Amino acid sequence: MLKETIQEALNAQLAREMYSSNLYLAMAGYFQSINLKGFAHWMRLQAQEETTHAMKFFDYLLDRGGLVQISTINAPPSNWENPLSAMEDALKHEQYVTQNINSLADLAIKEGDHATQIFLQWFVTEQVEEEATVSEIVEKLKMIGDWKGGLLMIDNELGKRTLNETSPNE
Ligand SMILES: [Fe+2]
Ligand SMILES: [Fe+2]
Repeated sequence: MLKETIQEALNAQLAREMYSSNLYLAMAGYFQSINLKGFAHWMRLQAQEETTHAMKFFDYLLDRGGLVQISTINAPPSNWENPLSAMEDALKHEQYVTQNINSLADLAIKEGDHATQIFLQWFVTEQVEEEATVSEIVEKLKMIGDWKGGLLMIDNELGKRTLNETSPNE
């Protein structure tokens, strides 16, 4: 049986994954509005991926005989100053999620919940990938500065993303 503290923390993470999905959907809308369709496409897939993360918590809670509690999800921003500031926000958000996954893993260890520890390992690995991918895009945007040609090249690259491939190089 799932401990109350673990159930609460898993539900809180479920809500954060749903917020992540909404944040990236908002970013998809922003990028599309400034005609960066590759970035928009990448963010749409990112939003879908976050929904699958939320569903992993949903299923796990139920598999352990826990209760799913859907809470209020705060509205994400809807506009950004430029592509770099949007991607920097995405990176900050992923770093925040990583911290939360780590705290959740700490709690599972403290409570002696081995199943939850194992369940969370997938997310620990996933966060390494997420941060690396977004950080690479941020660095490329910094590299090109105000060069519009470079921005279109990155847009073209990001437009090639398919589901389950997070790297912009794939
Ligand atoms: Fe996620
Ligand atoms: Fe993520």
